[in-house]
Amino acid sequence: MTKRRKLAAGNWKMNGTSAELGEVSALIKAHPAPGCDILLCPPATLLSRMAGQIGDAPIAVGGQDCHAELSGAHTGDISAGMLVDAGASHVILGHSERRSDHDEHDEDVRAKARAALAAGLKVVICVGETLAEREAANTLEIIGGQLAGSIPDLVTGDTLIVAYEPVWAIGTGKVPTTDQIGEVHDFIRLKLEKRLGAGVALSVRILYGGSVKASNAAEIFAVSNVDGALVGGASLKSADFSPIIAALEASG
Ligand code: PGA
Repeated sequence: MTKRRKLAAGNWKMNGTSAELGEVSALIKAHPAPGCDILLCPPATLLSRMAGQIGDAPIAVGGQDCHAELSGAHTGDISAGMLVDAGASHVILGHSERRSDHDEHDEDVRAKARAALAAGLKVVICVGETLAEREAANTLEIIGGQLAGSIPDLVTGDTLIVAYEPVWAIGTGKVPTTDQIGEVHDFIRLKLEKRLGAGVALSVRILYGGSVKASNAAEIFAVSNVDGALVGGASLKSADFSPIIAALEASG
């Protein structure tokens, strides 16, 4: 069986100013030699300082979005190359908040992912169904469509990370059952195998995201094909994120 190194990713969303960089120091101190990969995705304004602060410590830094073009007249946007320049090694793409707040569709996510890969970034591509879609028993169809539409061809097991984030579980405190998580993660693995071949697909990390916290992490990490988590609210404070990382390390 392919052994995938687990990944604990924190998505700070639109939270954090200089004052919160102390949380990063605390996290570095708490995990000097982590038994899993750790990724922090702060707002763009903090990227460069956070990357400098982390230095050689084993924590990666990522952006939360990028533009599909290399440069140009796109006021307010950030290119993949700019993220790299600021110290990022990863970028989250297609998060449901981008899809809903900015009307991003699968083809936009795919174009951004192409640009990110070309710039040398690893991409964390998010997929997930709404509550209405789940209640209509359309979850797998929706996830399958998002995977097919959002993932570009040129990915490898190293450069692609998929995050399954049910929209109704994000920031709500509601979490799917472990059976529901397992069903979707197994389905994603199967779809990746069909699309990319087993060699690549078995190396891709599939993260669960949506109201992950210290109290539910161990249970979620025990589910098959869950290779880590994309954590929002509980990644903002080291005291909350650290036990989630510990649970991931303990999950083996
Ligand atoms: P949450 O967010 O952990 O605050 O639910 C997860 C995410 O949107 O990545």
